[in-house]
Amino acid sequence: MGKLFRWLDERLDLKSLKAGLLDRAVPDRLTWWHTLGSATLAVFVVQLVTGIVLATYYSPSPDHAYDSIQYLQREVASGSLLRGIHRWGSSAMFILILAHLIRVFSMGAYKYPREVNWLIGVGLFAIVLGFSFTGYLLPWDQKAYWATAVGTNIAGTTPGVGGRMVALLRGGSELGAATLTRFYAFHVLWLPVSLAALVGLHLALVVRQGIAPMPGLLDNFKAPQRTDDERYAGFYQETYTAAKSGQHRFWPDVMGKDAIVAAGAVVVIVILGAVFGAALEPPADPTDTSYIPKPEWYFLPLYQLLKLVPGSMEALVAVGIPTALILALVGLPFFDRNSTRSLVRRPMALVSLTLILGGSGFLLGSAMREAGPEVPPEVGRPLTSKERAGRALFQSQQCGGCHKVRGEGGDNGPDLTAVGLRKSSGWMHSFIESPSRFHGADTRMPAYGPPALSHQEIEEIAQYLSSLRGGVGPEIQPEFHDTFP
Ligand code: HEC
Repeated sequence: MGKLFRWLDERLDLKSLKAGLLDRAVPDRLTWWHTLGSATLAVFVVQLVTGIVLATYYSPSPDHAYDSIQYLQREVASGSLLRGIHRWGSSAMFILILAHLIRVFSMGAYKYPREVNWLIGVGLFAIVLGFSFTGYLLPWDQKAYWATAVGTNIAGTTPGVGGRMVALLRGGSELGAATLTRFYAFHVLWLPVSLAALVGLHLALVVRQGIAPMPGLLDNFKAPQRTDDERYAGFYQETYTAAKSGQHRFWPDVMGKDAIVAAGAVVVIVILGAVFGAALEPPADPTDTSYIPKPEWYFLPLYQLLKLVPGSMEALVAVGIPTALILALVGLPFFDRNSTRSLVRRPMALVSLTLILGGSGFLLGSAMREAGPEVPPEVGRPLTSKERAGRALFQSQQCGGCHKVRGEGGDNGPDLTAVGLRKSSGWMHSFIESPSRFHGADTRMPAYGPPALSHQEIEEIAQYLSSLRGGVGPEIQPEFHDTFP
């Protein structure tokens, strides 16, 4: 090891790299809040790795996208886990980058001399939202399709340029193959490349300018009132150098904490991905206008707000509020030149932050209360993941063409509304696989055994059918009349 290091060091000058990057003095009293940026970076790496594997199996066309994801979940080892991690990772990334932004805002770290790095950070935040918006469509299930239909419609309400925005986002006037190609290219090429480039700049600037000192160190009586005061630069330099006089080094003081929090974040995502996975609804059906779309949870506050305002104001709120927020973030370091950094001594900042967070929290809460857990009417309780998959298959295989469930469907076969009370899931599995074994060659029900459906898929359908009990409560026990050939 030592020999290898020396060999590399002679050629690459590792020692001075280490001194320059790791062995730097950092300001005193840095907190755990300072680890949020690198935790976001760690989650980005997780997204990059899982995303690359997912892209290996994914087919970006409306005809195959859904199937390719079903294939991934069913046939690929750890396919569901990977999708689960990627899905939860995206939420984690949003939470962490938002928390990091709030930390930087609260500590006034966007002020002199870090205005440029703040702008880069705002760009990174916008890119993360772009990832979420484009990634949501890729599974091409009902939720993906309708949420994107609504999202792109909202962009279309922008006064003046609305029509052109929709065409730009959808690659045409309709949401279809061109949209999916476009979203996919953004999700796997444009956005990752831009994010990586901006992260590089962001970090380079952190190394160059050093970590911002705690607000208390700069808010002293010697500080000029405003950061554009010509004496401020000198004051800052002097105070910052003094703040770094302690014994704290980038390695291990900062990196140690960073590593702990980053590892914790990754573990949490993997656990959430393994336990809850990622839902897959029935395939997108552009004709099903009764579907009520739900956006990704962090767009819910805006979505909820839209429900509260009268229709004529919708366009204004839908486009205006996000635009105003982004503009406020971009303009912040330029109109706020007051040198005070502690949040408690910045009343305007404190009030705005409380209002925005409180308002969004309230809207998110009321949106979630309204939505509640999704309870399909035919079962009367939330479905397990197997049953959910079974229900999707029941719809995609068009079983409803011959069978009624709660009054909907065809009349060629028996009504299945309460089939779970008469037949066991085991019987249904065998029956669906090969009805002719039960009823001879004259059965009118097609056989769904392999290769039409895999045994796992038939089992999911059987589990779903088994949950159909005609709306009776748990006090009524099924009485199976299973007869096998
Ligand atoms: C072309 C019409 C048709 C389609 C499509 C169809 N079935 Fe059937 N199904 C029938 C008929 C007819 C019967 C009655 C038994 C027979 O004829 O053998 C039946 C019987 C059943 C039964 C037994 C019900 C009972 O009460 O005994 C189950 C369960 C069932 N079908 C499930 C399914 C599922 C699941 C699908 C989709 C994967 C499906 N069927 C698709 C026509 C159809």
